[in-house]
Amino acid sequence: MGRNIIVVGCQWGDEGKGKVVDLLAEKSDIIARFQGGANAGHTIHIEDKRLILHLVPSGVTHPGKICYIGNGVVVDPFGLLEEIDSLHTQGIDTAGRLFISAAANLVMPYHKLIDVIEENRRGGDCLGTTLRGIGPAYRDKVARWGIRVADLQVPQRLRAKLDNQVKTKAEYLAGNTDERADMNKTYDALMNIAPRFREIMVDVSLELQKQNRQGKKILFEGAQGAMLDIDLGTYPFTTSSNTTVGGALTGLGVGPSMIGEVMGIVKAYTTRVGGGPFPTELMDDIAVCLREAGSEYGATTGRARRVGWLDLVSLRHACRINGVDSIAVTKLDVLGCLDKIQVCTQYENDGFAGEDVPLDLATLSQVKPVYREFPGWKTDICGITDYSKLPAAARNYLDFIAEALGVRIALVSTGSRRSDTIMMND
Ligand code: IMP
Repeated sequence: MGRNIIVVGCQWGDEGKGKVVDLLAEKSDIIARFQGGANAGHTIHIEDKRLILHLVPSGVTHPGKICYIGNGVVVDPFGLLEEIDSLHTQGIDTAGRLFISAAANLVMPYHKLIDVIEENRRGGDCLGTTLRGIGPAYRDKVARWGIRVADLQVPQRLRAKLDNQVKTKAEYLAGNTDERADMNKTYDALMNIAPRFREIMVDVSLELQKQNRQGKKILFEGAQGAMLDIDLGTYPFTTSSNTTVGGALTGLGVGPSMIGEVMGIVKAYTTRVGGGPFPTELMDDIAVCLREAGSEYGATTGRARRVGWLDLVSLRHACRINGVDSIAVTKLDVLGCLDKIQVCTQYENDGFAGEDVPLDLATLSQVKPVYREFPGWKTDICGITDYSKLPAAARNYLDFIAEALGVRIALVSTGSRRSDTIMMND
């Protein structure tokens, strides 16, 4: 039996996890998503088709693979069904192979409304959320006001829980004429879709244990990235879930021994959407060049991503907090437009150079990156599938990253298509 792999983002999300999960799914039997919600946007290119998934695990494109959405995910029930229907019209049938935890919390229309109200209240200090209701939904879960998938099957309980929201959220909802504040509408809409959830609702923890015992290979699919982790990222400029390995254990109800290998996804440069510190951010022509060459626009919101050099300080942090065994380096081809490439090796603060990410946001906001310069390769490497065929400068860049992080490179992505990939042998 091959080892179960977990795929986690090592930066601020958008590392290209969708493509890697899609590739690894081919060699897996089960794909399980454990946290986040429709804030994620995983882009997959299959031949000429471009598919963007928000909630459904990226492995769904492979016929016959079983996909699970765990209890740690916050699920927009209407969005999920829309995604399933859209997959269906594209010839991808999820019947009998996409299941969702009965214990997953739901993102309700009023959560999205509250997300917007709160971002507006924050004004210039806003987090730059995806406005998908993620923070308000996780907050309800922790406050124990949350509505779970299983509640859809018990109309009286659902009604009582919805009525209770009017009291606990009066500050946002009382007198609000937005239809997302209307509990009667929400109740009716939920009752309409409840039968579809009855068919796909399971205990994901039990299912995974069963499948694992049968020797099935499980791929754990993370969303967002380490620096957006609610506990270990650049708080408060983070998302509201644990995007790191711990999130997979609680988000699916599995023990650590079920995870065989931790694969970190590292984009060959760095991007971030939304607010918050970004020490290696570029504001010049190079940012424009990378943004265009890498199509760095949000898959969920369409926002232009902030762009910067690779940051080994934050990557070391990501590797440590995840226990990363191997990395997949994505979008290496995008750097082909540059004469010179910089890599941040340390942060300088008050005249001292450090190798670690300061936990205090104010300190992190003022660090200056210390760079090491590498020559660019100025060649189109798109589609190269053999490491030895890469220009020496590109190999040099990759070798430096692997050594600095103390991890093995498992694969390198040299383009957006499935076939644009270098698989490295163990
Ligand atoms: P939220 O998750 O919508 O609450 O947004 C909180 C922060 O996480 C914002 O800066 C978002 O831009 C960022 N974020 C959330 N999901 C993603 C993602 O999938 N990729 C990149 N950034 C994300």
